[in-house]
Amino acid sequence: MSFARQTAAKEPTMPKLIMGMMRLFDYPELASPTALARWINERLDQGLDTFDHADIYGDGRCELLFGAALQADPALKKRVRVITKASIILPSHDSSPWRIKHYRGTGFHLRKGIDDALGRLKMEQIDTFLIHRPDPLADTEDMAHALEEAVSAGKIKRIGVSNFLPEQWRWLQANTTLPLLFQQSELSLLATEALFDGTHEAQLRDGLRWLAWSPLAAGRLLEGGIGRALADAQAVTGMSPTALAIAWIGRIPGAPIPVLGSMRPERIQEALSVEGEQLPRELWFSLLEAARGHEVA
Ligand SMILES: NC(=O)c1ccc[n+]([C@@H]2O[C@H](COP(=O)([O-])OP(=O)(O)OC[C@H]3O[C@@H](n4cnc5c(N)ncnc54)[C@H](OP(=O)(O)O)[C@@H]3O)[C@@H](O)[C@H]2O)c1
Repeated sequence: MSFARQTAAKEPTMPKLIMGMMRLFDYPELASPTALARWINERLDQGLDTFDHADIYGDGRCELLFGAALQADPALKKRVRVITKASIILPSHDSSPWRIKHYRGTGFHLRKGIDDALGRLKMEQIDTFLIHRPDPLADTEDMAHALEEAVSAGKIKRIGVSNFLPEQWRWLQANTTLPLLFQQSELSLLATEALFDGTHEAQLRDGLRWLAWSPLAAGRLLEGGIGRALADAQAVTGMSPTALAIAWIGRIPGAPIPVLGSMRPERIQEALSVEGEQLPRELWFSLLEAARGHEVA
């Protein structure tokens, strides 16, 4: 089955931040459905309605707890948008003698991944489904069919990729008329490769919105040279290191959307405080230089 490109779901209006759910179990205060439902309501009040999952986060338990929170407060279901991903098999889920972590880019696995995620999340539709990692052994045509079927059945609304290189997403795109709308990949002051190897421009050209995972470098921004540079920049601008790190991403053309991993309300508030701030080009480069440890050529 194929779809006219113009009739497939377009990129929706996106929030300033996407809430990453990978570390949900780092926050014991959110480990009950009612506590998590309260936390989700607080995020919605801040205009943050998009929550990023994957089947492997907490080995499925992050999606399960999120689904239980939606059941605890059924009004939430219509207000939240969920991104989820599949294609990585953990060793604990490999029943072969090799018990190996691997990728599984097959239509069968994606169909099952989508159905299983809907079951855990207790939802009828996933807003955005991403292929978590490119698989060198992928059956791309078969995967594309599975995605088309899932869109046609209303199980997923939009599709995208994660951690793909340009020719990898272009090969998938060549196999479907459904538009790939998102690329989720690492981006922070400590993960800047895609800004210099042409990947960023390829995303812009191909219309893939960048969803930036680990925007705070998983908490490593306060160390070493970048830590000192952020402290210096804070003294001049009054912006906290978190706010500076988020504004640094926001300055990049195409406005990548940070997928924030912290579920701590204070840090989320700090990350939101940058709205409307545009870092001066010179400050942007001075933070880049401090993070990379060398000046641009
Ligand atoms: N597609 C993929 O392959 C992929 C890969 C990885 C992640 N992701 C997605 O991206 C999301 C975000 O990833 P992430 O959690 O690595 O992002 P992150 O926002 O860069 O890191 C969050 C972590 O850093 C800590 N942190 C941040 N600033 C800190 C500071 N100043 N001092 C101490 N600790 C600090 C937070 O602790 P606090 O609790 O103290 O704030 C939290 O543990 C995930 O939840 C997931 O949804 C996707």
